Amino acid sequence: MTNFPHDFLWGAATSAHQVEGDNVHNDWWAAEQKGALKEASGQACRHYELFAQDFAIAGELNHNCHRFSIEWSRIEPVQGIFDKDAIEHYHRVIADLRSRRIQPVVTLLHFTNPAWFAQKGGWTKFKLKKYFLRFVETVVEEYAGEVKFWITINEPLVYSSHAYLLGAWPPKKNSLFQTAKVTLNLAQAHVKAYRIIHKIYQNRSLARPCVSIAANLQAFEICQPTIRNKIAFYLRHKLYNLYFIKRLLKKHTLDYIGINYYGRNLVHVEDWSLRSLLLATCKHDHHRLRKNSLGWDIYPEGLYKLLLALKKYNLPVMITENGICTENDDLRWDYIHEHLLAIHKAMQEGVKVIGYIYWSLIDNFEWAEGFAPRFGLVGIDYQNQQRIIRQSARKLAEVFKSSEI
Ligand code: BGC
Repeated sequence: MTNFPHDFLWGAATSAHQVEGDNVHNDWWAAEQKGALKEASGQACRHYELFAQDFAIAGELNHNCHRFSIEWSRIEPVQGIFDKDAIEHYHRVIADLRSRRIQPVVTLLHFTNPAWFAQKGGWTKFKLKKYFLRFVETVVEEYAGEVKFWITINEPLVYSSHAYLLGAWPPKKNSLFQTAKVTLNLAQAHVKAYRIIHKIYQNRSLARPCVSIAANLQAFEICQPTIRNKIAFYLRHKLYNLYFIKRLLKKHTLDYIGINYYGRNLVHVEDWSLRSLLLATCKHDHHRLRKNSLGWDIYPEGLYKLLLALKKYNLPVMITENGICTENDDLRWDYIHEHLLAIHKAMQEGVKVIGYIYWSLIDNFEWAEGFAPRFGLVGIDYQNQQRIIRQSARKLAEVFKSSEI
């Protein structure tokens, strides 16, 4: 029997734009209306209205925490104008979770920006982060008494690379320079947001909050041991996985390390361009692993290795996302089970993991991939918005109840 601590956080995550529906004031919505993306988010899962129903399911499935994001463009749809109804809405969301003894883990920026902010240049402009910080101050003043765990920014490097390097997400740019600028700006924004959050709690004599980011980490592995592959591996592991975290640690602005982990990235580089060194992967059909429905390699061992790589920082780690999109619910359960074993193994070797948050509570809008990928513990029938609890969710509920696998 494999035991987890009794105060372990067990839950699932969502993000506003992916589930709420009708997020009409953000940059994704604007791009969707222009037809710049495969599918539009539209009503998504109508979670903005149906949140209590969804949290009732999470409660029934023994979740004791839930990660969600506050949509900046709802709180501040027009620059400088804060929407009282939206502020009240998230009070109700948090109160509903707490009434079910589900600890809220609140993300402040999950890939979407108010359209007005994006129009001014968004994260490419250093001086604009003051607007994000004003939003942070506003919402943290509101919810401070009700929230202990904050995540300032979800996957800063995924955002900067998809939006500014790969041209996949709004505003669809292909510039290494802008990617670097946005990444740096986000790092600076986190440091400032961290200090704002702590100051608010201090001024109000509230217990210290726990603030972090959710960093996407990938298990980089080398396909063949060429010099180029080794250099690419080194660059990716050091730059992509560790640089951002190390930067924030130097500023003492992480109370725990939030990590999102999905799988393996098999490094194979055939030329010396920086782009290839940073991005190229093996296209051949060897080193085969099981895959999710988007073709990502399933690799629980990678999570174990990454957790051990974080051990030297001597901070608690929270798995803020781990999940699989698949039509095969048995595979979903195997994925979860194997990742939990990997986490447990790392914990036995001294890594202090404090929680496991599955991505996602419900099927949702998977950004540029649209609605096809099914990540949910709970399925959504988009014809009638019906929620269908999957078997894997029930099995996981048993683990959450007993803290044993
Ligand atoms: C993101 C989620 C996304 C998930 C699956 C993470 O990168 O935080 O928004 O849906 O992975 O791709």
